Amino acid sequence: MVKYKPFSKIVGTGSALPGIPISNDDLALMLKKNGIETSDSWIKERSGISQRYFASETDTTCSLGLQASLRAMEDASVTPNQIDLVIVATTTPDCIFPSVACQIQGKLGIDQGAAFDVQAVCSGFVYALTIADMFIKSGQNSCALVIGAETLSDILDWNDRSTCVLFGDGAGAIVLKSSSSPGILTSSLHADGKLCNILHAPARISRGKIVGKPFAIMDGKEVFRKAVDALTSSAEEVLIKADISKEKVDWLIPHQANLRILRAVAKRLGIPDSKLIETVCEHANTSAASVPLAIDTARKDERIVKGNLILVQGVGGGLSWGSSLINM
Ligand code: ACO
Repeated sequence: MVKYKPFSKIVGTGSALPGIPISNDDLALMLKKNGIETSDSWIKERSGISQRYFASETDTTCSLGLQASLRAMEDASVTPNQIDLVIVATTTPDCIFPSVACQIQGKLGIDQGAAFDVQAVCSGFVYALTIADMFIKSGQNSCALVIGAETLSDILDWNDRSTCVLFGDGAGAIVLKSSSSPGILTSSLHADGKLCNILHAPARISRGKIVGKPFAIMDGKEVFRKAVDALTSSAEEVLIKADISKEKVDWLIPHQANLRILRAVAKRLGIPDSKLIETVCEHANTSAASVPLAIDTARKDERIVKGNLILVQGVGGGLSWGSSLINM
């Protein structure tokens, strides 16, 4: 019988970005062909973004998630027969069903445990991580693959310059294992459905046809205000719950939406910018993939090291938001 271990810990990370980086100047040239004006200086000044990656016709959410998963499994030295839970956070699945999680589970040859997707838009990874942590802490599962994967470029309106310059595609994955020492210390998840309309892609499928606008629509100013409030309050909530002072946090990793949002949250929390992981400049906003991409990037460049305390955060459509405090 497997010995019960009361904690869950991140034991490996991986990520995947499609193709080559598309600079702001490249994007401005692409949009100019549609008669849309933008510039490197506008995008950088308003969002901090310098470049993003876009999926090619052959890249899908599943293929990017699979690549990130294989890298995370290699990093964790785990084989498919050890994984008994696959959760994918995504807003851009390859098809209506089956879930991306089931498709990745099948491609990896995992034939035990559950696999399902979580739809919490840009908060998806923190939601998925919290669910996996609870499954492991309950003793039901012992090794989870938690993935955030997106091909956001599929739902961007290329005629709306206030949204299409902000997003990118990619995937990040972590392996979460049962452990006898603490890893995920505490999490908090929230939603306020009354704010559905400030950030949404309102289309649905009816009788085989798309009804409504299948693109991301956003009230940028309102999202900005709500995102800063939500990220600040949920960071404070997990620090209080864990009885840990903010000075103990080694790295703050908010959802990589916009550099101005990240810095406003750090400032309100009194956490210096030197402890902020900022990958939005290189990846743009990759929704549910942004946090695991940021964790993997900062582990690979050796900013995040074993024993660090990290505070990861998501906020997005719903409005949904949440935070997790993690001992690496
Ligand atoms: N290039 C050039 N000009 C532009 C562009 C562009 N890409 N987009 C908008 N503009 C113009 C507008 O037309 C407007 O022109 P006008 O004054 O002549 O009317 C001007 O720039 C200012 O537009 P605002 O919308 O007022 O610009 P703002 O300073 O609010 O910045 C932004 C817009 C970047 C969207 C900002 O509101 C923001 O950062 N919001 C947060 C939203 C966010 O980060 N969302 C990410 C997804 S949500 C999430 O992940 C949680």
